[in-house]
Amino acid sequence: MITPLLLLLLSLVSAFLFYGASSVNQEGRILLEAKDGLEAPPDAFSSWNADDDAPCAWKGVGCSSSGAVTSVNLTGFSLTGPFPSTLCRLPHLASLDLSDNYINGTLAGPAFAGCDALSVVNLTLNNLVGPLPDALAALPNLTSLDLSSNNFSGGIPAAFGRFPQLETLNLVYNLLTSTVPDFLGGVSTLRVLDLRYNLFDEGPIPSSLGNLSVLENLSLGHCNLNGEIPSSLGRLSRLAYLDLSFNHLQGRFPEFLAELPGLIQVELYNNSLSGRIPAGLGKLAKLRSFDASLNQLIGPLPDDIFDAPLLESFHLHTNQLTGGIPAGIARSKSLADLRLYMNQLNGSLPADLGKTTPLVTVDLSTNNLSGEIPASICDRGVLEQLLLIRNSFSGRVPDGLGRCRTLFRLRLQSNALSGPVPSGIWGLPHLSLLDLRDNVLSGGISPVISGAANLSSLLIEDNQFSDIIPSEIGAAKKLTEIAAGNNRLAGPLPASLGDLANLSQLDLHNNSLSGELLRGIQSWKKLTDLNLAHNGLTGGVPPELGSLPVLNYLDLSNNDLTGEIPDQLQNLKLSQFNFSNNQLSGKIPPMFADEAFLSSFLGNPGLCGDIAGLCPASRGTTSNRHGFLWLLRSTLILAGLILIAGLAWFTRRYCKYKKAMDKSKWTLKSFHKLGFSEYEILDSLDEENLIGSGASGKVYKVVLSSGETVAVKKLWCSSKPQLANPNTSMDDAFEAEVATLGKIRHKNIVKLWCCCTHKDNKLLVYEYMPNGSLGDLLHSSKVAVLDWPTRYKIALDAAEGLSYLHHGCVPPIVHRDVKSNNILLDGEFGAKVADFGVAKAVEVIEKGPKSMSVIAGSCGYIAPEYAYTLRVNEKSDIYSFGVVILELITGKLPVDPEYGEKDLVNWVCSMIEHKGMEHVVDTKLDLSYKEEIIKVLNIGLLCASSLPINRPSMKRVVKMLQEVRPQNKANAENDRGKLSPYYKYAAE
Ligand SMILES: *[C@@H]1O[C@H](CO)[C@@H](O)[C@H](O)[C@H]1NC(C)=O
Ligand SMILES: *[C@@H]1O[C@H](CO)[C@@H](O)[C@H](O)[C@H]1NC(C)=O
Repeated sequence: MITPLLLLLLSLVSAFLFYGASSVNQEGRILLEAKDGLEAPPDAFSSWNADDDAPCAWKGVGCSSSGAVTSVNLTGFSLTGPFPSTLCRLPHLASLDLSDNYINGTLAGPAFAGCDALSVVNLTLNNLVGPLPDALAALPNLTSLDLSSNNFSGGIPAAFGRFPQLETLNLVYNLLTSTVPDFLGGVSTLRVLDLRYNLFDEGPIPSSLGNLSVLENLSLGHCNLNGEIPSSLGRLSRLAYLDLSFNHLQGRFPEFLAELPGLIQVELYNNSLSGRIPAGLGKLAKLRSFDASLNQLIGPLPDDIFDAPLLESFHLHTNQLTGGIPAGIARSKSLADLRLYMNQLNGSLPADLGKTTPLVTVDLSTNNLSGEIPASICDRGVLEQLLLIRNSFSGRVPDGLGRCRTLFRLRLQSNALSGPVPSGIWGLPHLSLLDLRDNVLSGGISPVISGAANLSSLLIEDNQFSDIIPSEIGAAKKLTEIAAGNNRLAGPLPASLGDLANLSQLDLHNNSLSGELLRGIQSWKKLTDLNLAHNGLTGGVPPELGSLPVLNYLDLSNNDLTGEIPDQLQNLKLSQFNFSNNQLSGKIPPMFADEAFLSSFLGNPGLCGDIAGLCPASRGTTSNRHGFLWLLRSTLILAGLILIAGLAWFTRRYCKYKKAMDKSKWTLKSFHKLGFSEYEILDSLDEENLIGSGASGKVYKVVLSSGETVAVKKLWCSSKPQLANPNTSMDDAFEAEVATLGKIRHKNIVKLWCCCTHKDNKLLVYEYMPNGSLGDLLHSSKVAVLDWPTRYKIALDAAEGLSYLHHGCVPPIVHRDVKSNNILLDGEFGAKVADFGVAKAVEVIEKGPKSMSVIAGSCGYIAPEYAYTLRVNEKSDIYSFGVVILELITGKLPVDPEYGEKDLVNWVCSMIEHKGMEHVVDTKLDLSYKEEIIKVLNIGLLCASSLPINRPSMKRVVKMLQEVRPQNKANAENDRGKLSPYYKYAAE
């Protein structure tokens, strides 16, 4: 009876005793104090219970067998706040890992006081700033120090030369300056030294680093190193990883590498190394990866180079190597990735290459290689890419390639290959690009092409292919481009071609095709170019052609077409068309009745229309010698009379005309069928219709009597001083815009309806884009937020517009001022590229420096190379487009005081390096699209690569953007190879 009472009493006493004081031991209290100094998400420390006796079961805390705290690991806890120095009061703390948090501030003075037991310190991926702390070097037991991916600045302190036991020093991705210091050679215990991606001044590799006798990893890529590679590095007998890439190193190739038996990976690419590659690398028993691309190496590849038994990846592209490819390559049992393009290699490939070698990627383009393509090249069954462009390979395309089911890119363009192509090639299931152009190949396209489920580009131009085009081609549904001109293809066009809904270019010119043009082509919604010139096609021109929505280039010349040109073709927005040399007859549709188009219709005896010179009305030409003199005399008299009458008439007409001119004042040039007159526009240019005003002029919104709305740009008079662009006169801008936009038609390029000029006044009339510019929408706080699907669509639309300018126009057009303010949005937020005020055809640009006096582009969008090359080409547009993508993803301006000295591109890169991709994404975006957003971000970064060569073509950009969306995923080629976020290689 007494027991319950006793228990109650006991529990009351104990509750009293422990009330208000935690039960945890001294070390636990230190940890809690450290925790309180940091901000963290609510559940981060949920296991840190102050009522526990000891902290050893707390998440992130490790204890020795005696119960002392020896490790604290709070990686990825999302902690914010200053470095928790309190932890140094834990007397046995040996390992401290606070990586991947938001710890900020400096590590000044006493931050590590008392931390004498520390052996491992990992603070990577935080926001620490200021100088590197001297005090770290005084920790007697420190073996591993990782301060990478922070914002430490200043030079590496001299104290860092005195670490007593340090084995790993990682300072990658900081803002360190000065040079790579000599004194690091004094840290004789170092195994790993990684200083990549800092802001060092130019300086040499200190030869003292050769004293680091146990060093295994020396990573000094992107360290602004110059001079020669010191031979002292040859003493690093345990070296396994050497990365000196992306520097300015000169002098001879480091011969000592052959004497370092532990080497696994060597990265020397992108320097200025010269001289020959020494023999001996082949005896490196552990070597897996070797890259000395983008240097100035000469001479032959050493004979033994492929003897290295584990060599997987061998890159030496873009050098000046000569001589042959060593026969030893065929004996390699591990080589998978071989890139030797852009050299002067010659000779032939070993006949049995591929029998034992598990080749995956082979790029030997742009060399002088000859002989046959090895029959066994795909024998191991893993070959994905074979690129042999621009060599002198001859003989047949080997049968083995027809069975190479892993292949997804095959490019054999511009060689001397002959004979029929193994039929299997036409139907390889993964092949996306088949490029056989410019050879002497013959035979037919095999019906097995129905199996080419992923074939996107079929490029077989300039060969001797014959036979009919098999109707099975209609099953290759992914085809976007067929280039088969200059061959001997015969027979009719298979009706199944009309099923290829993705087709954008169909070029079959100069073959022996016969029969009628295709009917039933309604699915050609994406066809922009159709070239069937120089064949024997007969029958009429099908009216359906007029319903192809984006057809822009149409060449049917030099066939035997008959009948009339259907009026429906007037619906097309053609930049070029050619019907010449056929048997066409009847009247030319009124829209084409312009002298400018004369050459498009010549050689059709029965064709007539209101074009001077087309069908000279044949008058009676009888004259007889007898009446000749009389005729001459009468003619002279008559001519005199006509002259007088004509003069009088002309004077009157001229006065009348001048009057009319003064009244109308404007001359009009239209590029589309217009449903309005210029007067209607002139009357509406009131200030109340003003919707914008920019460097080149004012923009008005004009609602016409027809109900249609147009945008009218009134350019500033040329006499006005141009503040924004003192070098361009408005005349130039106007001419450029008219010349460019008047010629081109594309769904993603803003339509120029017409232009009106009078003296200095110039008006441009465009289709009206109700949602204004992307720049305004993104950066003004007034408007509703653009969601991700819309932003993605805008990126894709704009990319297609630019791709059209670069790849769909002859000569290509460079926009030169791509920016978010020049991307306009229609009612459905479809995007169109606008403002061609500084656009130029590439041909014009290449004509000389004069045309380059104009500074084109806008702040924050100008490609870095412009600063030193002053050259603008397609790559500059691609860079600017990359900036637009970054704007779409970050929602930020291209330049902003927030970034300090940097621009948006630098800001994004450094954020990603230090914080990760997520931290640059606009917080207004729905993160359920994160995966897509990151993919597009990567494309943007690729476009904004500092090296133009790394920027993909706009065509490729479009493709990559399309592949981002799940519904396009099936289309996606895998991006393989060793790729960093900035894809290292730009293979053709
Ligand atoms: C900290 O924990 C993470 C995983 O939770 C682990 O990868 C890392 O190696 C640990 N750090 C140390 C220094 O042991
Ligand atoms: C650290 O970050 C917090 C939260 O963002 C901020 O309030 C604090 O001022 C920062 N401290 C330093 C020293 O920058």
